[in-house]
Amino acid sequence: MSKSGLKTSLTSYGDEAFSLFLRKAFIKAMGYSDDALERPIVGITNTYSGFNACHQTVPQLIEAVKRGVQLAGGLAIEFPTITLHESFAHPTSMLYRNLMAMDTEEMLTAQPMDAVVLIGGCDKTVPAQLMAAASAGVPAISLVTGPMMTGSFQGERLGACTDCRRLWGLYRAGEIDDAAIEGAGAQLAPTAGTCMVMGTASTMACVTEGLGMMLPGGACVPAIQADRFRQAEASGKRAVAMGAEQLRPGQVMTPEAFTNALRVLLAIGGSTNALIHLTAIAGRLGIGIDQQALDRMTRETPVLVDLKPTGSQYMEDLQNAGGMPALLRELKPLLHLDCLTVTGRTLGEEIEAAPDWWDKAVIRPRREPIHAEGGLAMLNGNLAPLGAVIKQSSSKPELLSHEGRAVVFDSLDDLAARIDDPDLDVTADDVLVLRNAGPKGAPGMPEAGYIPIPKKLARDGVRDMVRISDARMSGTAFGAIVLHVAPEAAAGGPLAKVRNGDRIRLDVPGRRLDLLVEEAELDAREPAPAPDHGLERGYKRLHLDHILQADEGCDLDLLTRPVTAWAPV
Ligand code: FES
Repeated sequence: MSKSGLKTSLTSYGDEAFSLFLRKAFIKAMGYSDDALERPIVGITNTYSGFNACHQTVPQLIEAVKRGVQLAGGLAIEFPTITLHESFAHPTSMLYRNLMAMDTEEMLTAQPMDAVVLIGGCDKTVPAQLMAAASAGVPAISLVTGPMMTGSFQGERLGACTDCRRLWGLYRAGEIDDAAIEGAGAQLAPTAGTCMVMGTASTMACVTEGLGMMLPGGACVPAIQADRFRQAEASGKRAVAMGAEQLRPGQVMTPEAFTNALRVLLAIGGSTNALIHLTAIAGRLGIGIDQQALDRMTRETPVLVDLKPTGSQYMEDLQNAGGMPALLRELKPLLHLDCLTVTGRTLGEEIEAAPDWWDKAVIRPRREPIHAEGGLAMLNGNLAPLGAVIKQSSSKPELLSHEGRAVVFDSLDDLAARIDDPDLDVTADDVLVLRNAGPKGAPGMPEAGYIPIPKKLARDGVRDMVRISDARMSGTAFGAIVLHVAPEAAAGGPLAKVRNGDRIRLDVPGRRLDLLVEEAELDAREPAPAPDHGLERGYKRLHLDHILQADEGCDLDLLTRPVTAWAPV
């Protein structure tokens, strides 16, 4: 009996023939013919939810994927998994990324399928699906919902969510009124799709194409354009062949492929979150990402893509400019071209097959970059022994070397309670420090690293300050913001010992983050207590007991594999 299609992953009754007989009996209730049930099966993850606007086109994408599967002679079967939207996941979507990865992995292996099309889009969904595919080992192809189109308000082009944050900053500073913020709010997310700046969703779409797990050109097509549905159809068609070839995720996501993905991340000025996600995906395959080596890579990888928040354009402009195939062509000398992609061809072959025209105003030539160095810088120092990251490309250059007085917030609640207190002792030269906002401390490492400028300073025109935390930041945000400080305060990191008035030095060119307090005094200090969230049961308990720190991708320790290879730099 060949083990494909319906014959795979049989339910255990101790009698395989009976298991298949019973399975067929039940699925025939859905009206399938024997002919259909003999075909190779392509699973399609259904991540639609009424809470997830970024995934509102998933039903139409599923129809297009099914068409492709059927054109190639397969049987397409959709199935539900958890879905996550950034604004509909309390306390933060990151708390549930690993849960979605577990759910998806288990459904990939529990159900019969020769290959799967993973339809994701919103920030945590694509990483969760790739983590799942890496662990499940089922031939998999990633399809994203695609970015939203831009909106317009009073003559200004707007996009989620860089402009959400910028406009909210103006509102907090009293520069725009209630009517303006409400009016703009109605235009920030004007169509289906994911945030249309180079936030985490766009970043993960682009790095997934660079990783080889998506069909060429699949990252940037807007959600509502016809090409998006042609991508879906082509993905379904290709998935049938991948099932026959048994082209598994581990053959595509090699150490070299992760290096390519990191190059893309740097060249697009992508989200800091993608670093955590790529580390987690690689960790599922026993592949390590060395942060110091990555930092060396940042120094030789220019930012080429002119998209907000680093630049000025939006995802539809990147698509019109040539999309990822054009960027990969320009990055070609920096890439491992022998990496296999889901097409069954190498990245180098795909680059050669792509059009050689692109708009060089949006995707710059390497000799005329937006920034000569990559968007991210990895920091070390006595305040971040296991590392921290800053998106230097979206920081004010003068703040990248800065020394200031610490103004410390003990938790998200403390931040909310005091940041706008008129009596808060703070100046524009100070360094805002937020602790207990990491993977354990918050819990779930929310995107709280974009600490708001205290209202009294914002009203005086202050738009950026050095801010440090063990939290993450939305990829759509910007500023001189140090994130992912590891170990976090709640895991015994030195952030727990910072006191108001301590001096902190940020030295991005030197890649240092230091608390200027004598070691002996630091040793003598009691750390600030970690919050007790009272999470005694269920998934949240599992999270607290097993969550890894940012430098290891914030996966659960029981889901990773020991590192046996490193992404080469
Ligand atoms: Fe879904 Fe931004 S909220 S991509």
